[in-house]
Amino acid sequence: MDHFQLIDGQLCAEQVPLADIARDVGTPVYVYSRATFERHARVFREALSGLPSVHIAFAVKSNPNLAVLRLLSKEGYGADVVSEGEMNRALAAGMPAEDIVFSGVGKSKRELTAAVKAGIGQFNLESEEEGVELAAIASELGATATCALRVNPDVDARTHEKISTGKAENKFGVSYDRAAGIYARLSALEGLNMRGLAVHIGSQISDLEPSRQAFVKMGALMEELRAQGLSVTHMDLGGGLGVPYKGNESLPTPADYGAMVVEVTKGWDVTVMFEPGRVISGNAGVLVSEVIRVKEGTSAPWIVVDAAMNDLARPAMYDAWHDFAAVKPTGETFTANVVGPICESSDTFAKNREVDVVKAGDLVVFRTAGAYGATMANTYNSRALVPEVMVDGDAWALVAGRIEPETILAAESVPDFLV
Ligand code: LLP
Repeated sequence: MDHFQLIDGQLCAEQVPLADIARDVGTPVYVYSRATFERHARVFREALSGLPSVHIAFAVKSNPNLAVLRLLSKEGYGADVVSEGEMNRALAAGMPAEDIVFSGVGKSKRELTAAVKAGIGQFNLESEEEGVELAAIASELGATATCALRVNPDVDARTHEKISTGKAENKFGVSYDRAAGIYARLSALEGLNMRGLAVHIGSQISDLEPSRQAFVKMGALMEELRAQGLSVTHMDLGGGLGVPYKGNESLPTPADYGAMVVEVTKGWDVTVMFEPGRVISGNAGVLVSEVIRVKEGTSAPWIVVDAAMNDLARPAMYDAWHDFAAVKPTGETFTANVVGPICESSDTFAKNREVDVVKAGDLVVFRTAGAYGATMANTYNSRALVPEVMVDGDAWALVAGRIEPETILAAESVPDFLV
């Protein structure tokens, strides 16, 4: 459920007409709803209330906006970060360092050092090599780095190939068979405090069975480690729960997911950790755009909007579906293609889709754009970096300004030898 609804025939974020924001900020613009973020954060936490001890770290990669992180920090969420940049955002938003989990397959020495100095709560190690490096860095600094070992369970998450991470052929984690040996060796190193295991099999997961299988395997590994006298107090089950992108789609709910986790982890005697991203941020944002013109086509007209694949990359990258609608729908629909102005055919948001009738100058939205939307934006075709707005009831604020192409151009220069 989200708080984007029609009020007096026009689409609003909470109480604010999207048209008001578009008029003042221009388009394209991402608009987030505070109430929706809070609702999702609470629903997800509530779904896990059957677990004795829980830590939730929002996957910053899904929406790293500072205001979003601040909002989630107020909800008691920590952060799952994958770079020094994300770590600094989470800290700047007021998240305590001990509530931050540092994930990622390629943490550099510089990042490991910065994270140890910041007192990050948990490093999710992706290899023995990384653990050995981190042990040396922490010892050198007279610190102890608290760690979990990310294991690749070799389970197919049955999601899009590009966002699947838990199969043996994927680059993530250490192989299940080698995990116990690596955990034992890393546990013996000065500078590391190995306290648990981590797993994350993919994103936009629409079937709970693969996650269940992966978690069962992690439980067995945990028992094996304990039988060897090794300590396991934390189990990080990652993120990945999918959200409905099509109006009528039905997916497992946070409550279904929570019930599955409670059942699988019964008797584990650990703090269970989670790294949800999309399920918190996905439906909390829309991308507002303006129709530039409607161009005649051979089989269907082309609705050319002022948002493009640089603003919302998901359709071009993963053939992802985002519901498309008019901000002031007339009630009439037609079959059309929805495209952006960028000079390649992958800049297509919808093909032969039944959509609201729109004309040049009308405002439109792409829904469920709060996750992996603004954060994946870029400036391809020398376009501006898209701005972001947060709505709270009948108030709203710009939370990321548009970065104009001129600003990017100003950072470039022609070297002397080309003058
Ligand atoms: N934890 C780890 C280790 C991850 O790699 C990810 C996502 C998450 C948590 C959060 O997953 P979520 O709950 O959001 O599914 N750009 C793609 C999604 C990439 C996901 C990468 N990892 C998209 O737009 O669909």
